[in-house]
Amino acid sequence: MNPPSEWRSDSWRERPITQGVTWPDPAHLAAVEAELAGKPPLVFAGEARRLQAHLADAVAGRAFVLQAGDCAESFAEGAADFIRDKLKVILQMAVALTYAGGVPVIKVGRIAGQFAKPRSESFEERDGLRLDAFRGHIVNGEAFTAEERRPNPDRLLQAYHQSVATLNLLRAFTTGGFASLTRVHAWNQEFVTNSPEGKRYELLADDIERAMTFMRSCGIDLADDHALQAVDFYTSHEALILPYEQALTRRDSLTGDFYDCSAHMLWIGDRTRQIDGAHVEFLRGVANPLGLKVGPTTTVEGLRRLVAVLNPNNVPGRLTLISRMGRDRINESLPPLIEALREDGSQVLWTCDPMHGNTYKAAGGQKTRHFDDVIVEVSQFFAVHQSLGTWPGGLHIELTGDNVTECLGGGSGLEESDLTTNYTSICDPRLNATQSLDMAFLVAELLQRTATSGARSL
Ligand code: PEP
Ligand code: CO
Repeated sequence: MNPPSEWRSDSWRERPITQGVTWPDPAHLAAVEAELAGKPPLVFAGEARRLQAHLADAVAGRAFVLQAGDCAESFAEGAADFIRDKLKVILQMAVALTYAGGVPVIKVGRIAGQFAKPRSESFEERDGLRLDAFRGHIVNGEAFTAEERRPNPDRLLQAYHQSVATLNLLRAFTTGGFASLTRVHAWNQEFVTNSPEGKRYELLADDIERAMTFMRSCGIDLADDHALQAVDFYTSHEALILPYEQALTRRDSLTGDFYDCSAHMLWIGDRTRQIDGAHVEFLRGVANPLGLKVGPTTTVEGLRRLVAVLNPNNVPGRLTLISRMGRDRINESLPPLIEALREDGSQVLWTCDPMHGNTYKAAGGQKTRHFDDVIVEVSQFFAVHQSLGTWPGGLHIELTGDNVTECLGGGSGLEESDLTTNYTSICDPRLNATQSLDMAFLVAELLQRTATSGARSL
């Protein structure tokens, strides 16, 4: 895919921008952009192409995507433990989905760059004081003071450096033995082990261990097998702060294509998918695999136009449509969209984000989501695909490896009165490690049923 001729890495600047940040010191921003443009890329074009090839397998119904991580990464949570524990729970979920669901799982983190947040209000007012809304640590701080809320371009550099460190650790963990299937038991964290989900996971891990022992006894050298010893793990984030994304865009010498080297996969949020807007303009020209959030206001014609602009050559794996309708709307809103694209022969991947359409405020004022609502939306997503004979290609969720109390229900039976115990998200409520495992087992059952019923691809 060579970039469309009228596209430049800065052509988005000529388009109207939604969720744009008003940086108080434009000269400071320009200096930071220049500095970032001289930095090494975080990911390489070849890696993004490999992810796209895996995603093409999912389009054909031969793989399932697990895209998971924080709603918003925090500058305060850059330490190794946070990253390791997030990776552990994603690996556990992937193993449950692969083993019980019976399909290869493509692992994509909302990590190493997921720092920016779209907001419904640009300003926040408290006791007569009106300040910029919190837009994620790449822009400003969450504390309600004038100093913290002022957008500060130095944060772009800090986001870059934390992404570098995070990715470095992820690369070490996923290739250096930690992600080896011989270590499945070690991914179960202490606080998870005693829950019913943790125990169910232990049984599954025992099964895998027995299978490995069997293979070893048959003379198969497991230590030499890359697929057992390492995992492919990819990064992704919402490409919201375009000065940052542009500064990290590089031309690939091999193909001549432009890649946004801040992550393997970038997605367009539900609030920034205007067809003539800056975000669509920027992302149509980079060759990374793209995600597009598809919320309940999406029309058939609007989606057709977006698909034509973002994937003009109809390349499988290029475009993942992330449905985020809400449990009460998915049955009505999703089928016409899937059917229209199927009619067009569009080679898109459909995944389900059951989090963002099911957020509400608890009585105590905290943003929360109920595990049951999340599961209902995922089940409906599978049911819709089942009835249309299309492939439910993946799951997109917000989680953390910690024992947080942000979402209600699930195996641990969290109630509203528990929300204050350990609510640490700086944005949306995340599933904790136990709830995430619970979810993985439920989705694995849905997957297994789908796989055996023969629904495979568009
Ligand atoms: C998100 O994924 O954190 C998000 C803001 O989602 P959406 O654009 O779907 O609302
Ligand atoms: Co979110």
